[in-house]
Amino acid sequence: MLEALGSLAAALWAALRPGTVLLGAIVFLLLTDLLNRRRPKNYPPGPPRLPFVGNFFQLDFEQGHLSLQRFVKKYGNLFSLEFGDLPSVVITGLPLIKEVLVYQDQNFVNRPISPIRERVFKKNGLIMSNGHIWKEQRRFSLTALRNFGLGRKSLEERIQEEVAYLIQAIGEEKGQPFNPHFKINNAVSNIICSITFGERFDYQDDQFQELLRLLDEVTYLETTVWCQLYNVFPRIMNFLPGPHQMLFSNWRKLKMFVARVIENHKRDWNPAEARDFIDAYLQETEKHKGNAASSFHEENLIYNTLDLFFAGTETTSTTLRWGLLYMALYPEIQEKVQAEIDKVLDESQQPSMATRESMPYTNAVIHEVQRMGNILPLNVPREVTVDTVLAGYHLPKGTMVTTNLTALHRDPAEWATPDTFNPEHFLENGQFKKRESFLPFSIGKRMCLGEQLARAELFIFFTSLLQKFTFRPPENEKLSLKFRVSLTLAPVSHRLCAVPRG
Ligand code: HEM
Repeated sequence: MLEALGSLAAALWAALRPGTVLLGAIVFLLLTDLLNRRRPKNYPPGPPRLPFVGNFFQLDFEQGHLSLQRFVKKYGNLFSLEFGDLPSVVITGLPLIKEVLVYQDQNFVNRPISPIRERVFKKNGLIMSNGHIWKEQRRFSLTALRNFGLGRKSLEERIQEEVAYLIQAIGEEKGQPFNPHFKINNAVSNIICSITFGERFDYQDDQFQELLRLLDEVTYLETTVWCQLYNVFPRIMNFLPGPHQMLFSNWRKLKMFVARVIENHKRDWNPAEARDFIDAYLQETEKHKGNAASSFHEENLIYNTLDLFFAGTETTSTTLRWGLLYMALYPEIQEKVQAEIDKVLDESQQPSMATRESMPYTNAVIHEVQRMGNILPLNVPREVTVDTVLAGYHLPKGTMVTTNLTALHRDPAEWATPDTFNPEHFLENGQFKKRESFLPFSIGKRMCLGEQLARAELFIFFTSLLQKFTFRPPENEKLSLKFRVSLTLAPVSHRLCAVPRG
């Protein structure tokens, strides 16, 4: 009997040609893929998916946030997409966005951990951590930021001091064309550096300039097709060369820099007195020593500090660069801002947050820069924490959630001229008017932790620069509103002329 079975198997095997085996393997993989992709009843609609890659290649990587808007038109305010086998949904419109970020926030409070994040941050840090780690780190960071800056007068003074350095550096350009990108990055970064590291870095410091360059490159590399492919097929991409490997190398260098600063702190650390965020974190780590469940340990100090350094540098400086670009492109608006500054302050007075109340036009211009700059066009992603029903659709646990801030900031029902720079959007009878559909910092429990800091930075840097200079396009050079896709939507680098005001 056994012999008969054996010869039957041998005959079958001989009859199978390599082509048949391959076909069988493909059918098997397709079936597995189909099973993996089974979605519950009432799952949101979405464009048809291809096997294995899902909708990965249906998005334009150069302007993903714009290509999504086509799908909104076709599938509505809640639709689904798939990247590899990662399910995701896109949420559009203020009522649904509020439902997700405020009313049902517990079900959407997590971040999806992408393979890149997992490899670089290992579920640690602040921006992309979840659960117990996130709660502990966010609570501590908020308190520490408040103690070392946020909400305190000293913070404003720090920003004013830094502005003076920036004005000097820009003044040295003597009205000639220059690229303001890294000067602004450095100035803005110095504020978060002084809170976290307890020091600022000179604009000529080559090592710090290199660090800012690495940070800028990281934000760009992370959105390249290579890195997106890494997030979908990490095992394959691990073995391939490409920009994703450079991303890992850059993160390594950034981590090493922060680790060195921490080592220096430890050398002259006085447990009785915290000079900055790192000192305070070291104190907190001491308190939790011996508690295995605590998320306060040295590795997390590196990740947390890196997150603050990253979030505190790229966002505000990108917004300021948009601001200067819009001023150079709209000279009549720039003149009105300068007239308002001159009315409220004399030449020797530095702008401060107390003067914002008396500058409704300037405040409206800064808000409009944020609306049009739209630097985080799809917010920072969230993840469904438990099976959830949203607008009648079923969203399984683990679904990635994208909130469509672009549609909100360009909604023709909300904004008189949605695609044109127009500070009147934030004015009513000459007074500043808040707008509900303006959410650059997001809302809810997991909204931007640095909103207050960013608002102070934006106001003081922007008004101080316009008090001293008029920004113009260089002669014979055309400025454009083109953006470079990176983790923040940034203007392509332009040269500007900063003409000193008489
Ligand atoms: C114009 C400047 C800025 C903008 C537009 C901005 C915007 C945002 C947005 C949209 C989020 C995601 C919120 C969410 O998921 O609901 C976020 C998160 C965050 N931001 Fe900002 N941000 C800015 C400046 C800053 C600054 C200066 C800091 C420095 C302290 C900072 C620190 C953070 C952190 C730590 C998170 C993660 C919060 C968490 O996951 O709990 N941001 N920001």
